[in-house]
Amino acid sequence: MTQRNSRPSLLAVIFLFPLLFPIESLAKNPTPFEEISKQYPSTTLPILQSHCIKCHNQDKARGDLDLERMATLTELRREPRIWQKVLFMIENGEMPPKKSKQLSTEENETLRAWIVSYLDAESHANAGDPGRVVMRRLTNAELDNTIRDLTGIDLRPTREFPADSAGVEETEHRRPGCIVELRRRRSG
Ligand code: HEC
Repeated sequence: MTQRNSRPSLLAVIFLFPLLFPIESLAKNPTPFEEISKQYPSTTLPILQSHCIKCHNQDKARGDLDLERMATLTELRREPRIWQKVLFMIENGEMPPKKSKQLSTEENETLRAWIVSYLDAESHANAGDPGRVVMRRLTNAELDNTIRDLTGIDLRPTREFPADSAGVEETEHRRPGCIVELRRRRSG
């Protein structure tokens, strides 16, 4: 290894760690369900009411989807797949249908942000020890190399980490936003 940095600084490493793992601290603190269900009637529901519920209600459940019944947290949490579908639809501009009044950029973002935080909380509620998994989104070798490249010190902090498993491909994607991505693809 060439010593690029003539004065490697331990401080750099200390400051670098939080930068390398910001997502981990995020991942440990998903929005509590209590907060999510409080946000729902004030931020999410009005958007659904003005753009979606006329086609997705109890009487007229287009695509077999009734969004009107989502009044309580229990209802909201009953079928996370519904929210994955809704997220998919609005991200891809498939809903509302082309002929209907479209979501403004702001409405789209508000709805999207709420769904993402809900799905994030849901996946944390269902996952065991997400911190470890999230932290390993870089393989051990990649992380060692990154630290060496940035600091010039061959510290190999991952000596302390468990060995990479064959499942790295998948765990790499298990960051909050990406869990959604992965599950969505699975659920078709
Ligand atoms: C003018 C009526 C209409 C409006 C408004 C509308 N939809 Fe739909 N939606 C449909 C129809 C019809 C289907 C079923 C056919 C299809 O998938 O294209 C559907 C299907 C869906 C599905 C897929 C359901 C499934 O299980 O496959 C989702 C999710 C969805 N809509 C979400 C929304 C959201 C979110 C909004 C508001 C932002 C919305 N829709 C607004 C008519 C509507």
